[in-house]
Amino acid sequence: MSSEILQRPIERVSAVDKLRDRISTKKARVGVLGLGYVGLPLAVEFARAGFEVVGFDVQQSKVDEFNSGHSYIKDVKDDVFSPLVKSGKLRATSDFSVIRELDTIDICVPTPLRKTKDPDMSFVVAATDAIAEHVHPGLLVMLESTTYPGTTDELVLPKLAAGGLTVGEDFFLCFSPERVDPGNPKYQTSNIPKVVGGITPACTEMGALFYKQALETVVPVSSTRVAEMVKLLENTFRMINIGLVNEMALMCDRMKIDVWEVIDAAATKPFGFMPFYPGPGLGGHCIPIDPFYLSWKSKETGMEARFIELAGYINSRMPEFVVEKIQHALNDATKPVRGSRIHVIGAAYKRDIDDVRESPALDIIVLVQRMGAVVTFSDPYVPRIRVEDNYLEAQDLLPSVEAADCVVIATDHTGVDYRAVIDRAKLIVDTRHALKGFRSEKIVKL
Ligand SMILES: NC(=O)c1ccc[n+]([C@@H]2O[C@H](COP(=O)([O-])OP(=O)(O)OC[C@H]3O[C@@H](n4cnc5c(N)ncnc54)[C@H](O)[C@@H]3O)[C@@H](O)[C@H]2O)c1
Repeated sequence: MSSEILQRPIERVSAVDKLRDRISTKKARVGVLGLGYVGLPLAVEFARAGFEVVGFDVQQSKVDEFNSGHSYIKDVKDDVFSPLVKSGKLRATSDFSVIRELDTIDICVPTPLRKTKDPDMSFVVAATDAIAEHVHPGLLVMLESTTYPGTTDELVLPKLAAGGLTVGEDFFLCFSPERVDPGNPKYQTSNIPKVVGGITPACTEMGALFYKQALETVVPVSSTRVAEMVKLLENTFRMINIGLVNEMALMCDRMKIDVWEVIDAAATKPFGFMPFYPGPGLGGHCIPIDPFYLSWKSKETGMEARFIELAGYINSRMPEFVVEKIQHALNDATKPVRGSRIHVIGAAYKRDIDDVRESPALDIIVLVQRMGAVVTFSDPYVPRIRVEDNYLEAQDLLPSVEAADCVVIATDHTGVDYRAVIDRAKLIVDTRHALKGFRSEKIVKL
């Protein structure tokens, strides 16, 4: 027995030292599990930093496209991606047994909500189970998927430790929230500061050392729960401020005040104010969803997250408000919605991206279709959308604008020729202030 006690600390120290050495010499073999908007850019950053990177995905079509050297994520250009794949620095597989050969693995799988607004943890559970099957001494595991505080220590840790390995000694586990902002030309994966918190100080040290190899700034925090809460604070802050400004827009509408002018003027205050803008509703995989992870977890502690529920309610009503605007605008032009041709510019949930998840444009289209309008859409990034049980194909912008009784700007993509839209349209409901700077009787602002 005494020889066992003497030996174990030596093994444990060597697991940390070995990993530290492999990371800092860039010999560590890096894995990224889930090759979507978050996982693919992350894999690219580590390959660019000199690591050999393996990506994992359950969708074979994605794995094949990845290995063909074509980037299906718009922010990652082929001229960066292809050479990394060709050189062998970057590859993808659906064979999870490769995890046995890795030193690190980042989990970047979806964390959606169920219809009941409860977290759907099935992807995180499946990813963790896949890693647990191949976890080995010296492996550093990082969860990046946005989730409720406690996920890493309550859900992920027990699965990884079930085989008898000790966290912080044999293997290492961190949470590091992903903050990527698709379509943002200034801030991308490499220059967005990376928060990381581990289960133990050794885990945090390993996680921070790892991210420092490829990312500009790393912000270590004291625990996985702090790191999980950081992301939820950030996104809840946005969601609530957008809810506030959407409510302002509703009030301004009734008082016949231009909310956009109010915000621009308020934003001249050099301290204590940060502008948020109203719009047709929240979209994307983060802002409409993440705060509900927090309110769900809060209920467990007997506390209701009232700000979140209220802002969620206001934001979710915005598509209906836009439809009311369309109705009024058409009625002023003596047309009913039923039978009118409505052209929606933009299906993506925000400017200059191709992501339609939770996009309010889809809600607006459904609502006006149900009222009997004939709806078309155009979007430079989105060729096709699913609307209830049907698909709509994107149309050419200007002929559709010309044919429409009312044009609705649901997304303010920068590449759209708005001057030409104003010239050709009969009526425009602008939900994004995309026509700022243009003056025309045809424009109805949110
Ligand atoms: N998209 C964003 O802008 C963004 C920003 C910050 C944080 N996040 C968070 O990051 C996480 C990932 O989001 P995303 O937008 O990259 O999602 P995504 O849907 O674009 O990509 C997820 C990928 O994971 C794969 N996958 C699912 N289950 C898997 C499994 N068991 N094993 C391997 N692969 C699996 C899917 O096939 C898909 O390719 C989510 O929690 C999201 O909230 C996203």
